[in-house]
Amino acid sequence: MLDGHTIPQLGFGSGTAHYKQDAVKPILMALRANYTHIDTAQMYDNEDTVGDAISQSGIPREKLFVTTKVLELAEGETIEDNLKGSLTKLKMDYVDLFLLHAAIKFDKPGQLEDVWKQMEAVKDMGLGRSIGVSNFQAGELERILKVARYKPVVNQLEFHPYAYAQLRPVLKLQEEHGILTESYGGLTPLTKKTDGPVNAVLVELAAKIGGTQTQVLMKWLDQKGIIAVTTTSKEERLKEYVDVYSLPNLTQEDIQAIEEAGAKLQYSRLALYLEAERKKAQEVRDGAQSTSA
Ligand SMILES: NC(=O)c1ccc[n+]([C@@H]2O[C@H](COP(=O)([O-])OP(=O)(O)OC[C@H]3O[C@@H](n4cnc5c(N)ncnc54)[C@H](OP(=O)(O)O)[C@@H]3O)[C@@H](O)[C@H]2O)c1
Repeated sequence: MLDGHTIPQLGFGSGTAHYKQDAVKPILMALRANYTHIDTAQMYDNEDTVGDAISQSGIPREKLFVTTKVLELAEGETIEDNLKGSLTKLKMDYVDLFLLHAAIKFDKPGQLEDVWKQMEAVKDMGLGRSIGVSNFQAGELERILKVARYKPVVNQLEFHPYAYAQLRPVLKLQEEHGILTESYGGLTPLTKKTDGPVNAVLVELAAKIGGTQTQVLMKWLDQKGIIAVTTTSKEERLKEYVDVYSLPNLTQEDIQAIEEAGAKLQYSRLALYLEAERKKAQEVRDGAQSTSA
């Protein structure tokens, strides 16, 4: 990464399938299968059980790479206080990567820039060894880059063939600055849009490389230089994910076929979330106006 630290290629998340659930079982399962990169967030409401699993595993802390994310700050709370709260739950002295989960919660004038300065301070304190962002669009990333002493090392994005076309502006900016991309939702064509145009391509390419459709999507991510953050509740899937890296590469034509099929459908969970958040914020503003009228 930009700051000299390294990040493991494949991450195991405590969100989505494990969102707001006790994460001890899945995290222990991943750690016992030699996964070293664990992705959590305050929003998943299970940092405490992620910490329990890590403690129970007996694996030395320095052998693991742990990410958490701040979605928003309570009234008067600083980033330092906030991260210390996460560290208490995780039962550790530092996280390897601390991310701003989304820019939308820091949308007051100057707030994003101020929060980034505070992120830099927790890096200086060694509480977050590396700092980055998630779900940032190009304009939001540019605001941070203008004031940054430390550039974000990663942007964790919803990254799959149906979101790829919309991501191009932010990916271009990241490439210019050496900011890595982490994916979530990489398997969306198999989990959310199972009748989409990419599926026929996946069937064909899976047969061609002697793998599964899941592995074709992860291979596509890998060849685009993306750090994949995924998850599962099934032990057998852990091996399927790891085996991706020993399968033969896709050709440029294969990659093009995935991207052309992906461009036929636009789908983004993030866009749906942001739309709902903006609607909620508007309702609060409308409510405040009618009270003061
Ligand atoms: N930064 C953010 O805003 C954000 C948002 C969402 C998620 N995340 C992080 O990213 C992690 C992964 O997110 P994700 O779950 O969206 O990732 P994903 O890699 O798209 O999906 C993982 C899911 O795919 C399923 N799967 C794999 N192969 C399949 C197949 N052939 N058919 C059907 N289902 C299949 C697995 O289900 P099984 O259990 O059946 O194996 C697993 O639950 C989260 O846990 C979280 O840590 C971050």
